[in-house]
Amino acid sequence: MTNEWDFIAKQAPEIQATKNEVLNPIVLELVKKYSKGKTLFDYGCGWGEFADLACREGFNVIAFDDAHEMVAQARDKYKTPAFLLRSEFEEQQKDLLGRFDVVTSNLVLCILGTEEQGKLLATAKSLLTDDGVLVLSLCHPKYDYLPDSLVSTRFIPEGVSYNDQFRYEKVIKENGIRFGDYHRPLEYYKELFGGNELEIIETKDSLVLGSNYSPDFIVFALKDFTSDGNNNK
Ligand SMILES: C[S@@+](CC[C@H](N)C(=O)[O-])C[C@H]1O[C@@H](n2cnc3c(N)ncnc32)[C@H](O)[C@@H]1O
Repeated sequence: MTNEWDFIAKQAPEIQATKNEVLNPIVLELVKKYSKGKTLFDYGCGWGEFADLACREGFNVIAFDDAHEMVAQARDKYKTPAFLLRSEFEEQQKDLLGRFDVVTSNLVLCILGTEEQGKLLATAKSLLTDDGVLVLSLCHPKYDYLPDSLVSTRFIPEGVSYNDQFRYEKVIKENGIRFGDYHRPLEYYKELFGGNELEIIETKDSLVLGSNYSPDFIVFALKDFTSDGNNNK
């Protein structure tokens, strides 16, 4: 099956340097702070840059993306992380349950509809060890309805405000790729995490590199609150 990200992968094979520069150091900081070990699963890995960075930081990384073309490009570029197609992930999923100290998922939850979000969170949790941590980033709910940012130009429907939920289009300034994202208020995500038995242990904004822009992204460190960290769920 192909999704719009197969098309996007072909459109813009180059790395999005600004997005990586503002986001990856913060994700890595939270990964290192909360991880109890060195196994990491990257869910929705895109072009594979974060998976590669995590490998270079000494993590054993398995990464998965729904778009075949993204996985193909990631494999061409980076040799060390194991990149999985959806069919491969589904085949191996049983063996991967409970194996990862960290699951990361960058900028995936905010492109998904509500039902898909629940599936992502449930799958991510199932991959974690009992004291594992989920580090998850989103387009920043407090600022993603503004028309301009360091990373992108946004096309926001008329008449909407922060408290609304709506879909908008954005163009990445660096490479011209255009895609849709959802705005939901921060309270929506707090409820979503709580409803999926995830406790927020820390949040951090992405970097703005000395500019006057508001941060493009927010990063959450989350723990399964039904797990006591002693292999008892
Ligand atoms: C905005 S990109 C982010 C890619 C990468 N994580 C990054 O930060 O550069 C969103 C990615 O999520 C992938 N994706 C969309 N739906 C997915 C799903 N249900 N499961 C896994 N990946 C998905 C897309 O193929 C795309 O590569």
